[in-house]
Amino acid sequence: MLSNLAVRDIETLIHPYTQLASFRETGPLILERGEGVWVYDVEGKPYLEGMAGLWCTALGYSNEELIEAARAQLAKLPFTHLFSGRSHDPAIELAEKLKEIAPVPMSKVFFTSSGSEANDTQVKLVWYMNNARGQPRKKKIISRLKAYHGVTVAAASLTGLPANHTDFDLPIPNILHTSCPHYYRFAEPGESEEDFSTRMANELEELILKEGPDTVAAFIAEPIMGAGGALVPPAGYFEKIQAVLAKYDVLFIDDEVICGFGRTGRLWGAQTYALKPDTLSFAKAVTSAYMPLGGVMLNEAMYQAILDESRKIGTFGHGYTYSGHPASCAVGLKTIEILQRDRILEKVRAKAPKFEARLSALAEHPLVGEARGVGLIGGLEIVADKATKRQFEAKRNVAAKCVGFAQGEGLIVRSLSGDRIAICPPLIITEEEIDMLFDRLTRALDRTAEWVRQEGLGAA
Ligand SMILES: Cc1ncc(COP(=O)(O)O)c(C=O)c1O
Repeated sequence: MLSNLAVRDIETLIHPYTQLASFRETGPLILERGEGVWVYDVEGKPYLEGMAGLWCTALGYSNEELIEAARAQLAKLPFTHLFSGRSHDPAIELAEKLKEIAPVPMSKVFFTSSGSEANDTQVKLVWYMNNARGQPRKKKIISRLKAYHGVTVAAASLTGLPANHTDFDLPIPNILHTSCPHYYRFAEPGESEEDFSTRMANELEELILKEGPDTVAAFIAEPIMGAGGALVPPAGYFEKIQAVLAKYDVLFIDDEVICGFGRTGRLWGAQTYALKPDTLSFAKAVTSAYMPLGGVMLNEAMYQAILDESRKIGTFGHGYTYSGHPASCAVGLKTIEILQRDRILEKVRAKAPKFEARLSALAEHPLVGEARGVGLIGGLEIVADKATKRQFEAKRNVAAKCVGFAQGEGLIVRSLSGDRIAICPPLIITEEEIDMLFDRLTRALDRTAEWVRQEGLGAA
């Protein structure tokens, strides 16, 4: 029986990323408040937020300093913009801070309100830049199957997931996808991780050669693939990929929208995986999601090319009303201050072994084919047969069923395509709460196994 509020929701909202038809039967989970790593629904039931919202509420749900940073800025100057040379102190300070903490030397920061806008900006900057450099044919951008880079037209094109393309008439031209580096699912029998990575790099090289290196402008990658399945890169992957990029003068766009600001135990995924990007996208945890903010940081060579093009054309014709919103920037500054002052990354590194141990122990469960993570992010894959890695029929939505059981147990995790489940709690989670998270997830998996048996789906 749906509550009155649930019925009003169904009659008024289109929910992002929702099966719109079955949602009309199941209705929403309506949350009302949050504290630490916990959120509470309208009936007062607590849930451990094992996804940090959407991989973003890094500092948890009741951080008074972040709330006060937003309040103070809203009271002082709730809005001004960065168009036509206008500016404000929070944007200047945050840009300086971001340059200071960037994983490689960066020259400039361009603010957006989301990760999608950041990646759309990347596409446009790469095209603009190569026109400036007199390379108008060098426009193709290579992404990866199962990548997630957002849902605006260019960002959704970079995304490598069918649901983001089908019947949206995407991807747009000049966006290509190379193989997904998911070792568990795509390695050949007997292939080592290093050999698999070599094959991935070879496939990228073949694609660049087939298209013509003079037409390939950039490659974009998330250090850890998020919505594609919480997939950790195989050993040696980025080292080999970066060697190919360097060989053909292909720019590296690092999408740090999930990994940035501590998720992997270092400030940037780039530091965990020794990436040397030319430009990077950030969003989400930069404000711990208390205010919408994203952006792009780019190196001096890119900036000079863009500067030249603007010199030729006049106005640099790109920007959003909320590019560098003052309250978002104020919260971003406070978030970084807290990360550094409270040594959050050291604490993440101290807790990570427990998180990773409890996660990998789930691989013993009869339904779990793979369980793997880094820092405080991880994914597991539900399979029908562990020996052959055979999956359940996609339409049975087994991972979604498990996530439903987890919700019953008071745990929020997320199901992703390919019967994967992602886990990505706030960085402030305690070791005791990590145990609670995995105890609840184990019970949800047990209930899923029971359901699989009852439905006669043939568990392992
Ligand atoms: C790696 C990555 N890039 C980009 C995006 C898009 O960000 P947004 O939803 O803020 O537009 C996401 C969102 O989950 C993401 O995970």
